Amino acid sequence: MRRLGVGLVGLGWMGSLHTKAYQAVPTVFPELAVRPVLTHAADTAPDRAAHARDVLGYAKADTDYRAVLDDPDVDVVSICAPNALHREIALAAAERGKPFWIEKPVGLDSGETADIAAAATGLVTSVGFNYRWAPAVQGIRDLVTGGELGRITSARCVFLNGQAADPRVALSWRFQREFAGSGVLGDLLSHVADLLHYVVGPVTEVSATSAIVHTQRPIAQMGTGTHFSLIEGGELGPVENEDHAVALLRFAGGAIGTAEVSRVVVGPQCGLALEVYGTEGSATWDFERMNEFRLSNLRAPGYTTVLGHGGLGDYARFQPGPGVAMGYDDLKVIEAGRFLAAVLGVTGIGEPSTVADALAAARVVQAAVDSATSGSWAQVKETHA
Ligand SMILES: NC(=O)c1ccc[n+]([C@@H]2O[C@H](COP(=O)([O-])OP(=O)(O)OC[C@H]3O[C@@H](n4cnc5c(N)ncnc54)[C@H](O)[C@@H]3O)[C@@H](O)[C@H]2O)c1
Repeated sequence: MRRLGVGLVGLGWMGSLHTKAYQAVPTVFPELAVRPVLTHAADTAPDRAAHARDVLGYAKADTDYRAVLDDPDVDVVSICAPNALHREIALAAAERGKPFWIEKPVGLDSGETADIAAAATGLVTSVGFNYRWAPAVQGIRDLVTGGELGRITSARCVFLNGQAADPRVALSWRFQREFAGSGVLGDLLSHVADLLHYVVGPVTEVSATSAIVHTQRPIAQMGTGTHFSLIEGGELGPVENEDHAVALLRFAGGAIGTAEVSRVVVGPQCGLALEVYGTEGSATWDFERMNEFRLSNLRAPGYTTVLGHGGLGDYARFQPGPGVAMGYDDLKVIEAGRFLAAVLGVTGIGEPSTVADALAAARVVQAAVDSATSGSWAQVKETHA
């Protein structure tokens, strides 16, 4: 078994999940013959750094991420810090020639994503676009690329999230421009844009509008609490970026579509849903029912529900037979496997999503931001923002 030293920056939700994913790789991807070794982790919050060493099992822990990047025993790096740090840390990793797996949206805006993509030229990268790897999404993509839905005429993708629907949800870094950049456009439209690119093809034009629904929230300290912790009766601060946005889309292949993203709706909790319509058929998927998708055919009206099975994506790596549920964390294991396969130069496992994919998604997000500001359609620009 080859050993690869893992470095991790940022020990929140994603940092813990990347750690679990690396640990599952030897079992789920045995053909890689690799054992990721938890080598060095960093978080500015000292208790989280200590947690990395004492609970997660990293050999070394620090509060300065540079110690991780400079560690000669670290072969690959996971970047799971807030968006405002993506550029600085990714450029530092690239300078040291260390392959990195970075969380979306990859920087504060498309200009930062472009800087990261340029710095990482020739380097193996992977991006946290985990929803791509749901076997049902892989199945729908295969139907589209195989022409079984006919010519794709329209697509609809929503990410309706209720995790900040309660105004007592803390004013974490996500609600502040300095740390997050845009709100749900960067956070959730980046996932939507990537899914649409992956399944349907490039988006070329966007017309968007957005709103802040809860203008104030109780102030929180960086590195405390969980993803969307509640705070009772704390001091309030302003929400600086959008809670909800809707967009019309045009695709390079001639299709039209819509996207909607929210962190404040009441009802859906992680309502990422994709609908793809073609001249011969259509397919729909909803992450809250991740393990199945629905399929319709022009000549057989109605829907067939397709359950997870071994013919869909990486399903067979996880489950022995049809209809046995996979979970969100498994998608991160697929991401880790594809990343390490690319690092090791092993083929036949499938490509990871890369910073080039992140740049393509970031340009759609930028067009949505521009359109929501100007009130006009905005082109998805090829050039540096
Ligand atoms: N792929 C997905 O589905 C998904 C889901 C959630 C978050 N994310 C992305 O992952 C990233 C992290 O999100 P999260 O939910 O884990 O956030 P989080 O707030 O739970 O954790 C972030 C951690 O980074 C630490 N940190 C802050 N500054 C640091 C620095 N200079 N050096 C080292 N550590 C630092 C914080 O103390 C905190 O522990 C974000 O970019 C977010 O957009 C992706």
